[in-house]
Amino acid sequence: MYYRKISCALVATAITLSGFAQPKKAAPQSKMDQFVSSLMQKMTLDEKIGQLTQYTSDMALTGPSIRAGYKEDIQKGMVGSIFNAYTPAYTRQLQEMAVKNTRLHIPLIFGYDVIHGHKTIFPIPLGESSSWDLAAMEKSAHIAAAEASADGLHWTFAPMVDIARDPRWGRIAEGAGEDVWLGSQIAKARVKGFQGASFDGTTVMACTKHFAGYGFIQGGRDYNVVDVSQRTLWETILPPFKATVDAGVGSFMTSFNEIAGVPSTANKWLVTDVLKKQWKYDGFVVTDYTAINEMVNHGNVANEKEAGEAAINAGIDMDMQGSVFAKYLKQSVGEGKVKVQTIDEAVRRVLEAKYKLGLFADPYKYCNEDRAKTEIMSAANLDAARDIARKSMVLLKNYQQVLPLKKSGSIALIGPLANDQRDMIGNWSGAGDWHKSVTLLDGIKAVAGSGVEVNYAKGANFSDDKSIVAQMNSQGGELVNDDPEALLKQAMDAARKSDVIVLAVGESQGMTGEAASRSDISIPESQQRLMREIYTLGKPVVLVLMNGRPLTLTWEDAHFPAILETWFAGTEAGNAIADVLFGNYNPAGKLTITFPRSVGQIPLYYDMKKTGRPADPNNKYSSKYLDISNDPLYPFGYGLSYTTFTYTQPVLDKKTIKATDKLNVSVTVTNTGSYDGEEVVQLYIRDVVGSVTRPMKQLRNFQKVFLRKGESKEIKFTLTNDDLKFYDANMKFTSEPGDFKVFVGSNSRDTQEADFKLTL
Ligand code: NOJ
Repeated sequence: MYYRKISCALVATAITLSGFAQPKKAAPQSKMDQFVSSLMQKMTLDEKIGQLTQYTSDMALTGPSIRAGYKEDIQKGMVGSIFNAYTPAYTRQLQEMAVKNTRLHIPLIFGYDVIHGHKTIFPIPLGESSSWDLAAMEKSAHIAAAEASADGLHWTFAPMVDIARDPRWGRIAEGAGEDVWLGSQIAKARVKGFQGASFDGTTVMACTKHFAGYGFIQGGRDYNVVDVSQRTLWETILPPFKATVDAGVGSFMTSFNEIAGVPSTANKWLVTDVLKKQWKYDGFVVTDYTAINEMVNHGNVANEKEAGEAAINAGIDMDMQGSVFAKYLKQSVGEGKVKVQTIDEAVRRVLEAKYKLGLFADPYKYCNEDRAKTEIMSAANLDAARDIARKSMVLLKNYQQVLPLKKSGSIALIGPLANDQRDMIGNWSGAGDWHKSVTLLDGIKAVAGSGVEVNYAKGANFSDDKSIVAQMNSQGGELVNDDPEALLKQAMDAARKSDVIVLAVGESQGMTGEAASRSDISIPESQQRLMREIYTLGKPVVLVLMNGRPLTLTWEDAHFPAILETWFAGTEAGNAIADVLFGNYNPAGKLTITFPRSVGQIPLYYDMKKTGRPADPNNKYSSKYLDISNDPLYPFGYGLSYTTFTYTQPVLDKKTIKATDKLNVSVTVTNTGSYDGEEVVQLYIRDVVGSVTRPMKQLRNFQKVFLRKGESKEIKFTLTNDDLKFYDANMKFTSEPGDFKVFVGSNSRDTQEADFKLTL
C-alpha cells in the first residue's frame, strides 16, 4: 500500500541516519523514538507548527468559529489534527489530503466529543455515574470507542473528570458528580473503556479534561473565574486527573478558566511542573476551543502572539481551533521568545500519539466501511445501552409502594418529555441520531403491553419563556410551543380518566451542558403549573424526571408519592424507564451529587467540614439559615429500591492499627423486602482530629451487591493506611496518628459507625 511503503522507508532511513534529534527518553531508543526522531529531522519549522495545529471541519461545530480554508491548510501540511469530522468516507477524504498531498505524508489525527456514546447513546455521564457500576461505565466507553473508531475517529475528548459541586453549572451533566474518590475510580474506568488494552483500531485515544478547576467556576456561570486554595486543588480537583495519568490516558485538554490569576492554558506550573514532570505524563496536551485566543480577554497577555508564547512555553502541545500557533509561532521563534526545543518537545508528543494509534503504519486504519455497517448501533450495543440506562436511574421517593406499576388498568402519561425523542439522548450527544431514540410513550406501550390503556397528553411546554425557547432552538433544540391552556385541558382530561398519572417533566437537553448555566434550578414554571393542577385531582402520581443537574424539588417531594430520576437516559431511554416503572428491573442507582432544597444552599456537598459553630437550632449564633435547614433534600449516595435493606453495626477486626496494618471492616446486609434487588453498600471514614480540619465523612469504598428477598450477606472491606492519607498542614500527603471513625450505610446520611485508632 502507498503509505505503508513511505512509512517503512522512513523507518529504514531512521535506522541508517546519524545525528537524530535528541531523544526524550534514555537509551535504548524504542522503535517509536527512532521513527519519530527520524521524521522530525526532516521537518521544517512550518511543518512542525502544522502538527501543533487543530481545526474543526465544517461537518459539525462545537464552538464559535470555523476556519474557512482548513482543507487547503491540510494539503499544505499546516494541520496536525481535525475534529468534528467523522464517517469512514469523510475522514478518508480528509486523510488523503494530508497523506497524499503533503511533503512528509504525515497522517491527521481525528478527534471528536464522544462523550456518552457515539451513535448508540448512553445516559449522560452524571447519570451513568449513579449506577456505581464501574464495569458498566467501562463497557459503555468501550462500546462508544468501538463505534467511533468504526466511524473514522481516533480520539475522543473524554472523559470529563471535573469534580463539580454547583448544580447551576450546566456542565455538571458531563462529569461523575461531587466525590473525589468515586470520581477518580470512574475516570479510570472510562479511560480503560475508551482506550482498551491497545490501539488495535477498535478503540480510541482518551482525553482527560478540563485541566483544571473548571468545576469550581464562580456562581456556576460557564467560563467564569476560578479561585481556589492549593488545598482544594490538591485534595479535590486534581486526584481524578492523576488517576487517568496512572491509567495511561493518551491526551489531556486544558480548561477555559483561570486559576489564581493564570489561565490554565498558560499555566506552566499546572501543565509542565505538575502534569508532565511530577506526574510523568507522557501524552500530549491540547487546549480547549480557542482557549489561547481567549487569553486576550482574560487579560494576562496583550495580544494573540503573546498568548501563543505563553501557551507553548507553559507546555501546551496543540492549539485547538485558534490558529495562534499557526499565525505567530514562527515569528516568536525568530524573536527568541520560544525555543525550537520547546516546539520539538510538543511535536514529538503529537507524533508519538499518531504512532501509538498506528496511523503511520496505516493512516486509513480507522476508515472501515464494513465495521461501520455492522458495529454501529448493533442490537448488542442497544441492549447494553438499555441495561446501563436502567442502572443509572435513582428512585428518590416511593411512598406506599406506588411503584412498580401494574400492567393493567389505565395510565395517564403527561408532560413535555413524555413523547419526546430529541431530549432522550441529552446534551453532548455528538453524532447520536435522536430520530432513533425510544420515547417514554413507546417504551411504556412496549413494556406494559396491551393490558394497559395509555392516555397521553403533552400537558405543558418545556417553558413558556420565549427567550429560553429561542436559545434552545438556536442550538439544535426541537422545542415547539403550543397553547398552554389547551395543553393543560388535554392533560386534565387524560388524567381524569386514568387510574395513575405518570408525569414526565424536567429540563430540555439544551438547558444542560456547555453554556447552559441556570440561576434557578427548579423545574420550569410552565411545568410547575401543570404539576400543581394535576395534584388537585388527588390521584396517585409518579414523577419521572429527566434533567442534567440536581433540581430543587421540595414542593414535588412534599406532594407526590413517587419520584424517579432518569437523567437523560440515551437512545434506549423509553424502554429503560418503562422497565423500571413496571418492575422488570428493580432500581438500584444512587446519587453521586447532592440535591439541595434551595439554590441558596449552594455549594452543598456531603464531605463538608463542621465549622466552629455547627448548626444548632437552639443557638442563634450557629452556622445555619434562618429560613431553611442545612440538610440537602436528597444526600449523596441516596437512592431507594423496590425492596428494603437493613444493615448491622460495622465490626472492625482491630481497635488500633499501625500504618503497615490492614483494617478489616464487616457488616451484614439483609434484603428485608419483597423483591430481589441490588444495594450499593458505602463505606466512609472520618479523621477526628487532624493538623488541618477534615471533612465529616469521606467515601473510601463501596460494593454493589445483589440480594434475593430474605437473603443476608456479610460484606467485607479492607482499609489501609493509604485510605487515611490527606495533605497535612505542610501539604505533605500522609496519615496522622489518632482517632478515626468508620461509617457504613446505604447513603452518606444513613450510616452506622465504629471507631479505631491509628498509632505510630
Ligand atoms: C469546548 C468544550 O469545552 C470541550 O469540552 C470540547 O471538547 C471542545 N469544545 C471541542 O468540542
